[in-house]
Amino acid sequence: MKGVSHRCAHKSKRAVSIIGTGSYAPERILSNADLERMVETSDDWITSRTGIKERRIAAADEFTSHMAAKAAQAAMEQAHVAPEEIDMIVVATVSPDTFFPATACHVQRILGAKNAVCFDVSAACSGFLYSLEIAQQFISTHTYDTILVIGADKLSALVNWKDRNTCVLFGDGAGAAILRSREGSHGVITTYMASDGNYADILCMPGGGCALPITSENFEQHLNTIQMNGKETFKLAVTSMQHAALRALQQANLELSDIKCIIPHQANIRIIEALADRLKVPMDKIYVNLERYGNTSAAAVAMALDEASRKEHFQIGDYILMVVFGGGLTWASSVIQW
Ligand code: ACO
Repeated sequence: MKGVSHRCAHKSKRAVSIIGTGSYAPERILSNADLERMVETSDDWITSRTGIKERRIAAADEFTSHMAAKAAQAAMEQAHVAPEEIDMIVVATVSPDTFFPATACHVQRILGAKNAVCFDVSAACSGFLYSLEIAQQFISTHTYDTILVIGADKLSALVNWKDRNTCVLFGDGAGAAILRSREGSHGVITTYMASDGNYADILCMPGGGCALPITSENFEQHLNTIQMNGKETFKLAVTSMQHAALRALQQANLELSDIKCIIPHQANIRIIEALADRLKVPMDKIYVNLERYGNTSAAAVAMALDEASRKEHFQIGDYILMVVFGGGLTWASSVIQW
């Protein structure tokens, strides 16, 4: 029998809390006016269709792991957690520094978190909540005590900067959370996760893997960049997030009126408004920062969580609901008592 399962055999599940958050956005701002000079678009089109005004773009020598480590350091500082205390690092990303080793291993090296087991999770924009649930499972079952979860993406490296359909939407960034068991605290109450591979083609990067390795032909066809059916993605985003939000609330035995703040994936203000409409919640209950960062994929909900908590959009004891969707198709929702 493995040591870990033996150790856990007679212990009851314990509550898991987020004890610190952090986020990081690169310095360089790319505004809609800047994009007007790059592709045939306008500030008016981008703002009215997406709500995005600007996004951050990482420097050429600034990788996903660098952004992830900066967000992690902010979370560790807030949580008063030293690198050696971290038992596991999970990085949610679709833009890893390298296919292998995992970006989480690169982060481990930067942080000096020598006791951590490290791996990446690939679930596109849903990756942070998937990773949060992985961490929750490991801590609640007494396998590990302290887990660093990061959502980080450098989508600027995966975008075709000549494709106006996609290049205006995305940005770079990272968000992190430290999870630990905290007595007398509810923490993560429930997470609902779902996927549907039948929609794999509507939002993807087809090239670069073993199916379509990087060859000069594939490169010329931009197969190593993000391809998206915008309209289909839009519709599925609204229905899947509505579904996930309601399922998580049901699992938590809570009503929407119990929720202090909703933090959705930050892809498009119209998607968020449609979600608010369907859930019948006012927009002032929903935290939005996409006008400043665009869609940062796995980082988006994590960055928004960090910002919203630092701006005190909710207090200790309040219920918050995070809800996401992304390529895969993947979608998820978490209810947390802060
Ligand atoms: N500037 C100007 N025109 C543009 C631009 C642009 N940047 N991009 C597209 N267009 C044009 C198209 O070429 C098309 O022109 P045509 O009608 O002559 O062919 C037209 O605008 C399309 O317009 P609409 O149909 O009105 O566009 P729509 O309202 O569907 O908005 C958008 C497009 C913003 C992409 C929307 O569909 C959307 O947000 N979809 C979801 C995208 C998303 O969330 N993706 C990521 C999700 S998951 C993840 O994060 C990985």
